Amino acid sequence: MAVYHEPVLLKESIDFLVTDVNGTYVDATFGGGGHTRELLSRLGRDGRAIGFDVDENSRGIAEDLSVSDKRFSFQNRNFSEISESLAGMKTGPVSGVLFDLGVSSFQIDHEEGFSYRRDEKLDMRLDKRLEMSAYEVVNSYKADQLADVFWKYGEESRSRALARAIVRERDRGRITTTLQLGEVIGTVCGNSPKVLSRIFQALRIEVNKELDALSAGLDAAIDSTGRGGRVAVISYHSLEDRIVKEKFRYEAATCVCPPRTIICTCGKIARLKQVTRKPIVPGQDETRLNSRARSAKLRVAEKIV
Ligand SMILES: C[S@@+](CC[C@H](N)C(=O)[O-])C[C@H]1O[C@@H](n2cnc3c(N)ncnc32)[C@H](O)[C@@H]1O
Repeated sequence: MAVYHEPVLLKESIDFLVTDVNGTYVDATFGGGGHTRELLSRLGRDGRAIGFDVDENSRGIAEDLSVSDKRFSFQNRNFSEISESLAGMKTGPVSGVLFDLGVSSFQIDHEEGFSYRRDEKLDMRLDKRLEMSAYEVVNSYKADQLADVFWKYGEESRSRALARAIVRERDRGRITTTLQLGEVIGTVCGNSPKVLSRIFQALRIEVNKELDALSAGLDAAIDSTGRGGRVAVISYHSLEDRIVKEKFRYEAATCVCPPRTIICTCGKIARLKQVTRKPIVPGQDETRLNSRARSAKLRVAEKIV
């Protein structure tokens, strides 16, 4: 098999994550296990790594790794369920949680319906246990629901016209493939790779409820991490990065009273300290070798209570 996924900001993210070589760590987005392997290489005999991924394809890779390295175990679950999983495993507070968001190269290149470059059934589910795939979204959402998806998650200025064009096309018959969808997009927004990938990404975000999962996952990670432990997040687009930035900022604030309040009454307690003031981005060497790294941003925060 070709390389499953080239890990992004590998050294930087693990350098920031590991504060105790015998701690327990969570890789919330195991993928092909690149970050987990680097993490395990830094941990001592009593260190532990727990991988999460919703994708069935990650499970096989993770099972092999858990056989060869007993310090590792895997949960084929959504990272929004980290708290329940860790409670079930009785890990106690963990030393760090890493998120490397979005999709792996393997998913884009080999799993169904993620890429407009191949003609395939519209699917886009990272977790095949989900009931609603891109096919259902495209063929059953009302025009204004579709327009919202393209506007909110794709920042597409022609979102309403595109939604109407999809509904018109549906009247002639179901839209079943990526190529069919790409053609409809082309008639309204043009078919430049940039536009097509933005709209496909918007659909993917909707199908997998990626932003809701990210908010819930961050809360769970912060709750599950012990004092002095860290939460590190690599994001790939502005919607994700904004959620991470705002969550870290809120959790690091000591007061959230309205502006110009003279005496603080909110009682807010800061739970985090920001470790990276500005996001860490890959250097030129990395982006030259791995184009996917170009949009990556790493933010890290430390639990202080
Ligand atoms: C960019 S890849 C991670 C690559 C990994 N760091 C590596 O080195 O191979 C993102 C992975 O996160 C998984 N994923 C995305 N959203 C998830 C969620 N809410 N819960 C669990 N896994 C998720 C995807 O299935 C994908 O395998």
